[in-house]
Amino acid sequence: MADPRKLFIKTYGCQMNVYDSERMAEAMGGAGYVETSTPEDADMILLNTCHIREKAAEKVYSELGRFKELKAAKPDLRIGVAGCVAQAEGEEIMRRQPLVDLVVGPQSYHRLPEMEARTSNGAKVVDTDFPEEDKFEKLKKRPQAKRGPTAFLTVQEGCDKFCAFCVVPYTRGAEVSRPVSQVLTEARDLVERGVREITLLGQNVNAYHGAHEGGDWTLATLIRELAKVDGLDRIRFTTSHPNDMDDDLIAAHGEVDKLMPYLHLPVQSGSDRVLKAMNRKHTAESYLRLIERIRAARPDILLSGDFIVGFPGETEEDFADTMALVEAVRYGQCYSFKYSSRPGTPAAERPLVDADAASDRLARLQALLTRQQREIQDEMVGREVGVLFERTGRIEGQMTGKSDYLHAVHVTGDVAVGDLRRVRITESGPNSLGGVLV
Ligand code: SAH
Ligand code: SF4
Ligand code: F3S
Repeated sequence: MADPRKLFIKTYGCQMNVYDSERMAEAMGGAGYVETSTPEDADMILLNTCHIREKAAEKVYSELGRFKELKAAKPDLRIGVAGCVAQAEGEEIMRRQPLVDLVVGPQSYHRLPEMEARTSNGAKVVDTDFPEEDKFEKLKKRPQAKRGPTAFLTVQEGCDKFCAFCVVPYTRGAEVSRPVSQVLTEARDLVERGVREITLLGQNVNAYHGAHEGGDWTLATLIRELAKVDGLDRIRFTTSHPNDMDDDLIAAHGEVDKLMPYLHLPVQSGSDRVLKAMNRKHTAESYLRLIERIRAARPDILLSGDFIVGFPGETEEDFADTMALVEAVRYGQCYSFKYSSRPGTPAAERPLVDADAASDRLARLQALLTRQQREIQDEMVGREVGVLFERTGRIEGQMTGKSDYLHAVHVTGDVAVGDLRRVRITESGPNSLGGVLV
């Protein structure tokens, strides 16, 4: 039998892309491909791209340029672009970079094997449809291979919120939830294959409304059902929108032991004027009140968020409101970005904030967020937390895992990958904690 052909996938962007890359690799497995981690070995290279900020989107072209020599040396090499840049730019990608053979948007991944076959005689293939059929149902099932202790599971995709800065509603399409039975089957299968922690994914995962006989299920109902799965020890979900945090989901944080005390709840800005211009449909005050309710249900919950600085029209006063909101919340972790104007979004028409002012605000915000993150991390010292071990550490004999609060924790001792153990935290470093087994 001929050697299997090799597929190299490089993934950019959010966790949904990570999940999609796994599914595409599995689907291509059915077409005779095995994955490789070196592009030089590959018969097919697939870039799974992100369009969220200009820098992320432009990276694709510099990356593609680097494959020129590989393609010259191996004319049969197929080069494909998937993900949100593929959806946003379509055929334009081939015009800008003629070595691309195939462009596939996020809703057409189930057609990838067939598209790859069509490129065999040198044809260029583009598919950026939003087809009626359910891609996840049609994507080849995961093979029964063992896997690591943690996994992502996309339960919801797309977005109907249309924040004024954001490309996601255009690149991923309208909000769609996967049916409950599909999610439960996939979750049980993951657990049988060794997974102990599942992170449920969606652009607005807390807006989940999966079809089920007798009526749609909410995310809280889904989590309560998943918590009954033997062998599944930890449940997380991301990303949530403040307006979709319903009472039952908040309550679940206090009631479901397997639901981890960590919540990513982006707010973007602390200024009501800016939030309105962003079309976020919540205020700083409503966000703070929501956090109070969440903390009432689960006092030790660790919060993370996303911020955009330099949104069109943002003044120094608006920015001061953002800093005040951060002070009020105390985040355990955060992501903050300078506003990037995205073609086709409403905010792209508006005048930009001075670039130096925006950079300066970002630096000040990040200094505050880093300080908070470090303080909260330091407060972990002396506490006992659960740690799920994921890999061997860099130092001989050391194992690395994630705490309930998603901190990286290093431990020296007799533990194996996949073990969930109690650990007493003894030290706090710049980006991780150290501890001893209890
Ligand atoms: N669905 C998630 C966000 C997905 S995008 C939510 O609503 O929270 C991830 C983050 O990228 C956003 O939260 C935002 O902070 C940032 N982002 C999105 N568009 C951006 C843009 N045009 N410029 C800068 N940052 C952006
Ligand atoms: Fe983008 Fe807003 Fe939708 Fe999040 S909620 S994906 S930021 S449009
Ligand atoms: Fe990027 Fe698309 Fe995710 S734009 S953040 S890869 S949904």
